[in-house]
Amino acid sequence: MKRLVIEGQHELTGVIKIGGAKNSVVALIPAAILAEKAIIYNVPSISDVEALKSITQYLGSEISFANETVKINNEKCENKEIISKYSTKLRASYYYMGALLSKYKHVEISFPGGCNIGSRPIDFHLNGFKKMGAKVIQDGDKYIIDAPNLHGAEIFLDIASVGATLNLLLAATKAKGTTHIYNAAMEPEIVNVASFLNSMGAKISGAGTYEIKVEGVEKLGNGIVEVIPDRIEAGTYLMIGSLLGKDLVIEGIIKEHLESVLTKLKEAGAIFEVDGCKITVNKSEHLNPVNVKTLVYPGFPTDLGQPMSTLLTQCEGESLFEETIWENRMRHIKHLNSMGANIRLFDKKAIIRGKTPLKGREVVATDLRAGAAMLVAGMIAKGTTTITNIEHILRGYENIVEKLSTVGAVIKIDEI
Ligand code: EPU
Repeated sequence: MKRLVIEGQHELTGVIKIGGAKNSVVALIPAAILAEKAIIYNVPSISDVEALKSITQYLGSEISFANETVKINNEKCENKEIISKYSTKLRASYYYMGALLSKYKHVEISFPGGCNIGSRPIDFHLNGFKKMGAKVIQDGDKYIIDAPNLHGAEIFLDIASVGATLNLLLAATKAKGTTHIYNAAMEPEIVNVASFLNSMGAKISGAGTYEIKVEGVEKLGNGIVEVIPDRIEAGTYLMIGSLLGKDLVIEGIIKEHLESVLTKLKEAGAIFEVDGCKITVNKSEHLNPVNVKTLVYPGFPTDLGQPMSTLLTQCEGESLFEETIWENRMRHIKHLNSMGANIRLFDKKAIIRGKTPLKGREVVATDLRAGAAMLVAGMIAKGTTTITNIEHILRGYENIVEKLSTVGAVIKIDEI
């Protein structure tokens, strides 16, 4: 087991380079199964990528990952059942559903894994497949989805779900006829995946808006794409920089993807300057309380709500933090309180009274972004913070120790 050990309160200066977006690459690798050959640039070194690599390999395709580049050759790809040993490693294994259904019109796959942040149903995915002519059978802990006549459909999502939008986009790419996805998720990751599929010859328009049109095609060729920068990683380091930075540069961002976060941090009095794809951030001596409510894109991202709640403990006054996407994204609060925060929890709302000094403690990363919240806390706390269950953090933040040590943090991973 690994744990992260952080000695807090060190000033951070230098450059942190942002890697490719986890939530994009975890769909791009399964999507690549649809190409003859594919190349994906700017791939982050995170454990989720390794897990997807092993699934693609298991299906018989050749896949390599070096120098931030994934190369895939699907000549020997076969339609095998994705067994639980592979599917439970991560949530995004479910993107092989849409991809294999599109490619072979039949898929068998065990339930996906992922962070325990709520019930995480996939009814929108399955109902969408059904609308496209698929028969869906749940057999124990696996799904059998069969659609010999996979066809286009008019699909309205009850919630603008990222996963359902992507899975249905994948399935529709090689379905017969036209699919419209209404109330589609508008996250930048959707645009990234759609442009990858279009590079193979798919006919997708409207990605990034609430209505996506997919005209099914019979054949796809080679695909090429660059993973967009990870806006969540960037946002996390920006928050850390607002608390400890001395001309700390966060490099390789797309400002438009971070608009809601930058606006909220500015409102709180964070000191930063955006120059093209760089943000220079300095510690703020005084931060104002603000209200943060997570929403679908372009609202404040749920994946930054937890680290933001740690920043709110350093704002002078009462802030309100509200999570609206997931049921279980408040489990880090008790750990923040154990470090000295003053937070009262009311279901998915938290009233955070600051500014409270934090003290180093042994805490747990209850999920990936809870881990990020603990990381921010450990960085600003007095003394040493030990975070256990960091496998969650390593799923989403690449080279975290190297990136933070280079700019002056005192942080290491211990094997226990
Ligand atoms: N939902 C349903 N039915 C469905 C699908 C979703 O009710 O069939 C509900 C969910 O329960 C949730 C809401 O719709 O309340 C939104 O879920 P969404 O499908 O958008 O989430 P997801 O695709 O499962 C992805 C990211 C999450 C991120 C969310 C929201 C991946 C692998 N995961 O999840 O990332 O929080 O979108 O932006 O891309 C993380 O990185 O820490 C993480 C959890």
